Amino acid sequence: MKQKVIAYGRVREKAQEQLREKYDLHVFSGEEDLNDKAFTEALAEADGIIGLGMQVDADFLAHAPKLKGISNVSVGYDNLDLEELTKRGIAATNTPGVLNDTTADAIFGLLLATARRIPELDRYVKVGNWKSGLSDSKFGIDVHHRKLGIIGMGRIGEAIAKRGYGGFDMEILYHNRSRKPEVEEKYEAAYRELDDLLQEADYVCLMTPLTPDTRHLMGREQFKRMKEDAIFVNGSRGETVDEDALVEALQQGEILAAGLDVFQEEPVPADHPLLQLENTVTTPHIGSATDATEDKMSLLASQNLDAVLQGRRPPNLLNEAAMRDNK
Ligand code: DGY
Repeated sequence: MKQKVIAYGRVREKAQEQLREKYDLHVFSGEEDLNDKAFTEALAEADGIIGLGMQVDADFLAHAPKLKGISNVSVGYDNLDLEELTKRGIAATNTPGVLNDTTADAIFGLLLATARRIPELDRYVKVGNWKSGLSDSKFGIDVHHRKLGIIGMGRIGEAIAKRGYGGFDMEILYHNRSRKPEVEEKYEAAYRELDDLLQEADYVCLMTPLTPDTRHLMGREQFKRMKEDAIFVNGSRGETVDEDALVEALQQGEILAAGLDVFQEEPVPADHPLLQLENTVTTPHIGSATDATEDKMSLLASQNLDAVLQGRRPPNLLNEAAMRDNK
């Protein structure tokens, strides 16, 4: 009998086709939760899950007694309780590498759009307000030759540093759990303690993964340390930021503006205070969202899950002990 696989949320057609050749595939939209009967029935029989955004904790796993592997179609895996998964011998995987440039493009684009007020000025033109010369009240700020502070110098952080350094002659500062000598050399990047980076940077770009240590890494105190004419960009996860503190910093002019691709609650509710401000530019978590990159991520996630279900070590295993203890 074929093993059963659940595809949940953003799993591209190409990957679904690949999985269907070998597995009994059950496709769900990604809106379902444990109150959904069809979903829990499928979960009770599932050998594998592939998808984006499901919150996998002890409660969820109690509904999935046969599960051998869970394959995230994302590089971030803050939705997975790795300890619980490992305890149960369930392998967990993610999709690093294939989205670096695409995500860096999106986050750098957000930075540019925020600095030059592109969405606001787009609306200004389209509603017919451009009737004479542009008033200097509509001017933005320069990006080139300024200081870009990157918090979280992983692979995507590095791709952002590359754009800032090579394309915009920016001075790169970074903060990370460990020093990155190769990044320091390639992009003349200077390591800074977090407080120093916040004080010095013209652009603070948050790219750190969400972990218990990075939850609300940016709070009142951190925004107060930033320069009044600095821009904050979040391309990590919403929960790395205390959103109330960010609203306050933006309203009180402690920082100039913010570009946000991620929010504590996603989709962010339309009445959220961050969406009512003139000095925010927002995108709906689009980091990796291009056809080409989403295909690559789904296909990599499918290879990861296939390896687990065939008893092989998947290329992007997150919890080594789960498979080791299974052997
Ligand atoms: C990732 O891969 O983690 C991106 O943020 C999309 O979820």
